[in-house]
Amino acid sequence: MTTVNHTPVAVIGAGPAGLMLSHLLHLRGVETVVFEARSRETVEATVRAGVLEQGTMRLMRETGIGERMDREADVDEGIEIAINGVRTRIALTELTGHAMAVYPQHEVLIDLIAQREKDNGTVLFETRVDDVTGYDDDRVTVSYTNPDGSHGVLTCDYVVVADGSASPWRQPVTEVAGGARFRHEYPYAWFGILVNGPQTQKELIYANHDDGFALISTRSESVQRYYLQCDPEDTTDMWSDDRIWEALHTRVDGEDLSVAEGEIFDKAVLRFRSAVTAPMQRGRLFLAGDAAHTVPPTGAKGLNLAVADVAALVPGLVHALQGDDQRLQAYTDLALPRVWKAQHFSYWMSSMLHHNPKASPFESQRRLAELSAVLGSEAGRRFLAEQYVGLDLPDFRI
Ligand code: PHB
Repeated sequence: MTTVNHTPVAVIGAGPAGLMLSHLLHLRGVETVVFEARSRETVEATVRAGVLEQGTMRLMRETGIGERMDREADVDEGIEIAINGVRTRIALTELTGHAMAVYPQHEVLIDLIAQREKDNGTVLFETRVDDVTGYDDDRVTVSYTNPDGSHGVLTCDYVVVADGSASPWRQPVTEVAGGARFRHEYPYAWFGILVNGPQTQKELIYANHDDGFALISTRSESVQRYYLQCDPEDTTDMWSDDRIWEALHTRVDGEDLSVAEGEIFDKAVLRFRSAVTAPMQRGRLFLAGDAAHTVPPTGAKGLNLAVADVAALVPGLVHALQGDDQRLQAYTDLALPRVWKAQHFSYWMSSMLHHNPKASPFESQRRLAELSAVLGSEAGRRFLAEQYVGLDLPDFRI
């Protein structure tokens, strides 16, 4: 049996973009239906990056989903950047007035889902979207398959595509004249591990070393998140525990610091890619988050950019549903400049901190000079700090 329903806004994907959009629209009196192909358990357990910009933290607090973050997140007022074991502190708060929080993405999703549940929001897990039509006309139709195999049809005024970098629903935007997808591939990847063990230190360490980059991050006092630059073709079985610890010590240890070892309970290779889709809309269809753009993990901008997209999109949708779609038509113009700035920052941090196996000796020396020029200048450190803590978010209440 096929059931037909109507909602003002359908959202494809229950990641940071989709769930935050659904939450913010609810606060503006607009109901949504969120479709998610994965199970709630999978969404709540998938490991991603973990840094919240100041604007994301503030938005979570102001919209009633910041309580657990405020209790559990590791709020840091600085990060460190090491060159061959010698560390320089970037005093984020001193330089910008803002801090950042280490709070993993899946924890944000757990909080968002709990709030949507409390507010009687509709999030359909294990529900696959089969077709989206009508976005060039007056009404969008979303066809989907329920977990039990039955089919449903939902009509809506607008559809927001927020189902990640592999989204099949981006095509309507890129297939028309003027639609484009800009891409960049990097000659390195990250080997990410989760460790049961004590913190190496509270603040994150971004370590540049002749052997390659390493990052010391954390999940809690007893669970740590470490990354090592590796080849994009590497597989997890190529990195034994011994090889991992040896590489981390070589790349990070300094006179006064040694990486704290523990029991490695998760290993994964993370590919590095940049991509931007423009425009971010077509007719009644809008792209948000990774469905529109992907950043490499170095600056941890992915979630923050998804949140910024939807903060820009919400007023447009609210006004359009009241009959004025001027702001909605301007969504791409509002969102895209920030997307490119985040691309720039992620690319810049990545290329400045990683050993590029394809670089000439000249280019490698130039890169190290760039890094020490930035670290050695207060203006350089401030620029890095401002980008790291993030620009202010668009106001979703206007
Ligand atoms: C993480 O903890 O997963 C993390 C932290 C900082 C980054 C990227 C990832 O820049």
